[in-house]
Amino acid sequence: MHAAVVHALGQPPRYESVPEPAPAAGEVVVEMLAAALYPLVRSFASGGHYTGGDALPLVPGFDGVGRTTEGGLVYIPGLEPPRGTMAERVAVPAASLMPVPDGLDPAVVATAMNPASSAWIALRERARLRGGESVLVLGATGNAGRAAVRLALDQGAGQVVAAGRDPLGLQDASALGAARTVLLDGPGAEVTDAFGAAAADADIVLDYLWGRPAELALDGILRHRADPTRTLRWVQVGSAAGPDMTLPSAWLRKADVDICGSGLGSISAARRSACLRELLARLPSLAPTGEIVPVPLAEVHTAWETPLRSGSRIVFVPAGGEERHSGAAQLRKDREAV
Ligand SMILES: NC(=O)c1ccc[n+]([C@@H]2O[C@H](COP(=O)([O-])OP(=O)(O)OC[C@H]3O[C@@H](n4cnc5c(N)ncnc54)[C@H](OP(=O)(O)O)[C@@H]3O)[C@@H](O)[C@H]2O)c1
Repeated sequence: MHAAVVHALGQPPRYESVPEPAPAAGEVVVEMLAAALYPLVRSFASGGHYTGGDALPLVPGFDGVGRTTEGGLVYIPGLEPPRGTMAERVAVPAASLMPVPDGLDPAVVATAMNPASSAWIALRERARLRGGESVLVLGATGNAGRAAVRLALDQGAGQVVAAGRDPLGLQDASALGAARTVLLDGPGAEVTDAFGAAAADADIVLDYLWGRPAELALDGILRHRADPTRTLRWVQVGSAAGPDMTLPSAWLRKADVDICGSGLGSISAARRSACLRELLARLPSLAPTGEIVPVPLAEVHTAWETPLRSGSRIVFVPAGGEERHSGAAQLRKDREAV
């Protein structure tokens, strides 16, 4: 069979012949139908993820959708490197498999689950969103941020403020229901004031960026907060703008600020699994928030480095057929557009 294989950390994988998977006790073989490419997958493949290792060669791909030998569609919630889902077949612990609700397209599920679960877990397990609260999504133009705008409203937020550096992406966030937007552009003092005007009353921040944008957002909120004792729950989810930020100690004394993180290490495996099952059941009523670009797994090497429009996501489909052609054509269109 074939798989994507990384031989050097940080280098794009190659499509290669590999041995068939050998299931261990309690594992079953699943035929893969769709596995998406997103920051965590790249991070594992570069050896840079906080839970990953550096074993090589590795097959990239964290989660995905496949078919069991009985014919059922299943969601695979995550494989530990060097095992990965970007292969024609994978061996997976049987107990981890989650049935995909009827009528859902494998590519949609594979594309939606990582970004949507980032918001679902952060909102429900970490921030514990209560109905009517105000949520700022910092980094609302990417796949996870868009899902966060949609899910915060779906879960009862009274208002969502969307912040990002891409004006067109912010328009999309408004179309998804964000009441206000903050453009991360211009002098720092102006951006700080914009956060103060739009999000001073935020109860929750879902932070996909960290770095300078997080400094400006927290500064702006704290400078303009009417009641500093109103708790601000800041959930750190991603670091797309940088791994570090400067956090003056006074910011933590001048107001009631709770900062926590949401990631693979901050929730038990059992709770994560329960959240993913809840989210899967919810997916049929949540339309996709971004553009899905199916690409044949055989093209993994070139597709890996292809820049896509904000909010678009590549999903590798091992099997050919119609999708093979539409995926390749779509990718070419996207390359031309960027
Ligand atoms: N902890 C979790 O459970 C979890 C789960 C999923 C994702 N994440 C993390 O969340 C982050 C976003 O993931 P994603 O799936 O949405 O990725 P994505 O679709 O690639 O989007 C990346 C986002 O980051 C923005 N961005 C990148 N550099 C920036 C900068 N210097 N200043 C401002 N914005 C910047 C992009 O803005 P443009 O739109 O302008 O390009 C885009 O909105 C990543 O760090 C990812 O690892 C965490």
